[in-house]
Amino acid sequence: MNCMRILAIETSCDETAASVIEKTGGNLEILSNVVASQINIHKKYGGVFPEHASRAHVEKIIPVVKEALGNYKPDVIAVTTGPGLIGSLLIGVNFAKTLAYAKNLPIIGINHWLGHIYSCFIQSEPVATQSKSRRRAAWSASRALRTDFHAGEIESAAHAIFDVATASGLPQFPALILIASGGHTGLVLMKSHKKIVSLGETLDDAAGEAFDKIAKLLDLGYPGGPAISKTAEKGDPKAYDFPRSMLERKDFDFSFSGLKTAVLYEIKKQKLTAKIKKNMAASFQQAVIDILIGKTIQAAYEFRPKSICLCGGVSANKELREQMKKAVSGLPMNPSFHAPAIHLSTDNAAMIGIAAAYHLNDKTTYDKINANANLGL
Ligand code: KG4
Ligand code: ZN
Repeated sequence: MNCMRILAIETSCDETAASVIEKTGGNLEILSNVVASQINIHKKYGGVFPEHASRAHVEKIIPVVKEALGNYKPDVIAVTTGPGLIGSLLIGVNFAKTLAYAKNLPIIGINHWLGHIYSCFIQSEPVATQSKSRRRAAWSASRALRTDFHAGEIESAAHAIFDVATASGLPQFPALILIASGGHTGLVLMKSHKKIVSLGETLDDAAGEAFDKIAKLLDLGYPGGPAISKTAEKGDPKAYDFPRSMLERKDFDFSFSGLKTAVLYEIKKQKLTAKIKKNMAASFQQAVIDILIGKTIQAAYEFRPKSICLCGGVSANKELREQMKKAVSGLPMNPSFHAPAIHLSTDNAAMIGIAAAYHLNDKTTYDKINANANLGL
């Protein structure tokens, strides 16, 4: 059977990532998945410092691609062309173009959000039946996670990698997809691999951005999502009644700025003890979860999807995953529920390679590819 290997590269924000995906007929396998995190560089600023991000990509791109490639010979190159930080995107895009030129290989430009969507389009398999290459991918992903996540998060991430028999089968069309990341939050309806319609998006902050900002206000460290979810574990989600904006509206847009302001006012009212921080983190997290789930369920009643997918960095949040799964299981149209393995939730290149595997007809030459910081879906 025809076998194709895709080298995928992702540098849209603060992770330098490369992955090799093998496509054999209709079957996809992640052969390698390497992520070099820049958390240590950005944490002293409490957010991504674009100039430092570009410099780190320049330093890391060759070792990361080398590690992902091993002895694999790619047939095609896939690269994230946008949206993202232009200084970061340019490193990956120009590296990919140069490699395509030097090796005379075709290249596919992939939208970062499309990549997140396709993180749900790979079937997981139990570790016992995994090939050696698959175990190598899991190993390198878990190693990358070690620098990515706080200690508490590693366990659940490792669990997700080594016992990955999650949703059965791939999403079916029409699929309703919630993308919740640091740069974007929105709902899309995927009618086919070619027909992807945006139903609504955030009017202000993205969900992950709200996690990051509230973590900063509560002095919980960076990145905010894992820090809040860890702190929230021992807090009371009903301690504060924060607003669930937009749920009364019939459209599918999101807003998190009102929630952020409500948390800020509450923080200003009192001295922040460890207990108050836990309760605030838990109450804030629950408000975000209610907004995300509420809008997704509203859209499910209107569009009656066969599948519902949750993706983007915020999909690494265990509470969100569990509560969304439960909400979806109560729907009368009985859709299947899909969320990526934890190491494919936050930015990685495997999702870019998977997206490319479904869009091989978009292959082109190096001179037709460019970075675009504001690329839309
Ligand atoms: O998808 P992603 O890696 O990058 C973008 O495309 O933006 O998402 C990063 C976002 C960050 O805002 C981070 O705080 C959030 O995902 N995140 C989480 C968790 N892990 C990462 N948010 C909530 N809970 C988590 N466990
Ligand atoms: Zn992302």
